[in-house]
Amino acid sequence: MDYQSLFSSRAAKPAPALFRAGAAIPPGVIPLTYGFPDPGSFPIEALVEAATRVLREQGKDALQYGPIQGPEAFRALLVAKLRAEGIQAGAENILVTVGGSQGIDLVGHLFVNPGDVVLVEAPTFIGALQTFRNLEADIQEVPVDEHGMDTDALAQRLEQLVAQGRPPKLIYTIPTFQNPSGTTLSEPRRQALVDLARRHGVMILEDDAYGELRFSGEALPALYARAPEEGVIQVRTFSKILAAGLRLGYVVAPKELMARLLQLKVDVATSPFVVSLAQAFASDGAAGLEPLQRHIETLQGVYRARRDAMLSALEEYAPPGVEWTHPDGGFFTWVTLPEGADAGALLAKATEAGVSFIPGAQNFPQTDGRRHMRLSFSFLPPEQLTEGIRRLGRVLHDAL
Ligand SMILES: Cc1ncc(COP(=O)(O)O)c(C=O)c1O
Repeated sequence: MDYQSLFSSRAAKPAPALFRAGAAIPPGVIPLTYGFPDPGSFPIEALVEAATRVLREQGKDALQYGPIQGPEAFRALLVAKLRAEGIQAGAENILVTVGGSQGIDLVGHLFVNPGDVVLVEAPTFIGALQTFRNLEADIQEVPVDEHGMDTDALAQRLEQLVAQGRPPKLIYTIPTFQNPSGTTLSEPRRQALVDLARRHGVMILEDDAYGELRFSGEALPALYARAPEEGVIQVRTFSKILAAGLRLGYVVAPKELMARLLQLKVDVATSPFVVSLAQAFASDGAAGLEPLQRHIETLQGVYRARRDAMLSALEEYAPPGVEWTHPDGGFFTWVTLPEGADAGALLAKATEAGVSFIPGAQNFPQTDGRRHMRLSFSFLPPEQLTEGIRRLGRVLHDAL
């Protein structure tokens, strides 16, 4: 069969070979690659109890097809959660999805035709890059520094694109504890981003996968909170605050867009069983979110200790000339090697030395990111992180 001649144009182009966060690692190698949640923090016993309750008390609904937008009661719970964060939204603004990934995919399908310009941060999340590649978007970069997306560079890029008659449709941003850089968009830049997008009539897709996992510093208001019902869509997930395997997330969007999003969500509905399970775990019944909130606080403690271990080990073992970010939350730090260095070329040596990392080049759609590497502190306990960085430090000393 000549499949190639049958493929759609989006499938015909092979995806770049990515180093996936969950790729198998040889035994004895410490995987600083794994951007996975800590498996020891999954609340397994509480979920067993919640699942039993759901099946016994609501089994006939939980095992049936459900409403495509997500059950009203669950959306009401999410509304309460958002309000506590300063986001004014109603149940009509919420669409329950299969993880944040489906949210990104739906929003991409809502706005992006082949050839449309989508602006992304450089570096950015590889899953979103693949989504925009599938949509055959013209993906263009805006640089990121320690304060998040460089909004002066964004302003220039927007002017250029408008002058070329190619205004972008969408700006995709991860403003808080960015994947992969760990950086957070500063307060003045948040306002600048919302103002620029509004002025140019561009939609903002705000991916807040990690914002709840803050270990230090003050919380900053979401972009959505600055412009509810106006040009911002937020995608959220339970992957990092409860369990990635539930595949549960939600989109917060202007009411006007909901009918179109529902039209595009063709999976019948996000699993009603999973939704009921998350709801039974998260809430104490009186619409209170205490149990989920307590769990998030536990996670903040776990990940804070891991971040601290990784950053202290970098202080101790990284050779001069190597820099890294100091995230206030999330899962990652981002390492920049001296000019001319190539992180990808060091990976084989690092693996031989018993440690692995993600080369940063794949997080850039246009420019050269080979000086960078992403290190995850989420998956391993502090002692292993320290040992991993000690090994990596030796490899970097030898190579640089
Ligand atoms: C920035 C970002 N957005 C979205 C996701 C999607 O996660 P999920 O589909 O598990 O909700 C991830 C997961 O790694 C991520 O890092």
